[in-house]
Amino acid sequence: MKQLTAEQIQENWNRLIQIIDDTFVDTEDNERHTKLREMYDYFEDRMVMAPASGKEHYHNAHIGGYVEHVLHVTDLAVKLKKMWEQEGATINFTDEELIFAALHHDLGKVGDMDKDYYVPQESEWHRKNRGEIFTHNGDLQYMTVTDRAIFLLNQFGLVMSENEYIGLRLTDGLYEEANKSYYISWNPDWGLKSNIAYILHAADSMATHIEQNVWERGQTEEQEATKERVSSLKKSLTVDDGEKKPQQQDQLSKKSQDLFDELFGDKK
Ligand SMILES: [Fe+2]
Repeated sequence: MKQLTAEQIQENWNRLIQIIDDTFVDTEDNERHTKLREMYDYFEDRMVMAPASGKEHYHNAHIGGYVEHVLHVTDLAVKLKKMWEQEGATINFTDEELIFAALHHDLGKVGDMDKDYYVPQESEWHRKNRGEIFTHNGDLQYMTVTDRAIFLLNQFGLVMSENEYIGLRLTDGLYEEANKSYYISWNPDWGLKSNIAYILHAADSMATHIEQNVWERGQTEEQEATKERVSSLKKSLTVDDGEKKPQQQDQLSKKSQDLFDELFGDKK
């Protein structure tokens, strides 16, 4: 399982706050930066720990996975927007709008005002057989992640522009049934009037698949390392007894014990 160090978690958080400070400003009629900092201060303790999903084979189902994912999507959205622009796309939204939507598309995964959305899965069976590291908190009122994001922003008086709303609302693309009427319309008047949603969906989808790949490679590496250790444990245990001198025997059993401890740890 992928794990972030305390330093990586802190670095990601600092970077997130830096993006807020660099991107948003207060104006006379909109204290957007102040309100965002209020919201991030309010959620800091929970947001910094939140995973981006509950199942390990989805993406970033580890402590700090949420902030890591949001930064990943934001970086990719900015890069993809440049690519679209270079290729001739009409960009009729600002970088601020793109970054606002990217940063908050999964905000609902933090939970409601008091409770976490993801809680550790207590069932050993579900952890082992289903890869469920976290599960949904049953104490929360049901809402889609996107609806909860909008609800939470509302709690802090954060008003969205139309581009931000459309971008955030449609980041899941057609994976969300409710988005169908926005993406597929036979009436030309109802088509999307900006590319912001396509770019955000591409960024989110790309980040999610890459995060999944990183986890898969980590699993393979872990399995290979375990295999290697098991075969070295076997080798030290299968030396012909007749050939062993007493001192050698002691060394071997100590070596086997060390390997055993390394592999299986303290099971008490
Ligand atoms: Fe996402």
